[in-house]
Amino acid sequence: SRQALAGLCLGFIALSTPVFAQCDPGEILIRFSHVTAETGHPKGEAALLLQTRVNEEMDGRACMEVYPRSQLFNDDDVLPAMLRGEVEMAAPSLSKFGAYTPQLQVFDLPFLFEDILAVEEFQNSDAGQELKESMVDDGLLGLEFWHNGMKQLSANVPLVDPADADGLKFRVQRSAVLMAQIEALGGEPFPMAFSAVFDALQSGDVDGQANTWSNIYTQGFHTVQDGVTETNHGIVDYLVVTSVEWWEGLQPDIREDLAQILLEVTHERNRFAFELGELNKIRVRQEGATIRILDDNEREAWVSALAPVYDQFRDEIGADLIQAAQAAEG
Ligand code: LMR
Repeated sequence: SRQALAGLCLGFIALSTPVFAQCDPGEILIRFSHVTAETGHPKGEAALLLQTRVNEEMDGRACMEVYPRSQLFNDDDVLPAMLRGEVEMAAPSLSKFGAYTPQLQVFDLPFLFEDILAVEEFQNSDAGQELKESMVDDGLLGLEFWHNGMKQLSANVPLVDPADADGLKFRVQRSAVLMAQIEALGGEPFPMAFSAVFDALQSGDVDGQANTWSNIYTQGFHTVQDGVTETNHGIVDYLVVTSVEWWEGLQPDIREDLAQILLEVTHERNRFAFELGELNKIRVRQEGATIRILDDNEREAWVSALAPVYDQFRDEIGADLIQAAQAAEG
């Protein structure tokens, strides 16, 4: 019947349409693209809060549409798309900027940061803040750093000793430093979009992966792996980024209000990234996955196995920058 058809159509629209206010004519459209879950995830929650505040407080002047879960672009495509004016904001992980600057690779060095507080301290230092402008010549401007958390390692076999990773295929983010880490372990790195990882793990195309508790839980990686080893060997953090051309083209009052809301959202949500990670770790455990905790000797073996990566990238990244990051204690 017509009624049933109307119901079906409404259901379809409700399922397929992202949740945001219709933009009014005359409002500046701000499309924000990202790849993770919308809720229960540090980036997803921060993007939602940003959308709510912009749409309430800048109503009539600006309008934000958040596209999560790689709906609009994956991380390989989003920065070129931004430079073409097809999206205004994104928050790729700091591992995804290698084509634009070698400096952000500092965040990918193994066992560099003790915890997320050390990451916060480094990002807020002069050296950290300068990194936001490291891609301006390429047309990209970093606005704020957003936290996710420390990275853990998993595979379809138990990982306790670094030798356990020998010969395994690992999905990595597209970063030369992350690839070199897997090679230092005798493994084979496979760069792959975030949205493809679950299927690749499930089908056995790759054996393992490295990611945060929030990414592992919201993507279900733990359900297709032999447990997760709590290595805390690196971080996944984000740079909220925009195009210089678009940003400079905004009217000053719009740019200032947007920057202020983004700053407040950053402070508000970054405080909760660690807690959200711990909650997601508990959920991983409650779903029956094994979590392997390393003792000091076991951890030291991973630190030593990955240490050669520093020599490979010291010149490219800059010894001073690495030292500034090492000095941050949190
Ligand atoms: C990944 O590709 O593993 C992460 O960068 C995804 C994300 O945005 O946290």
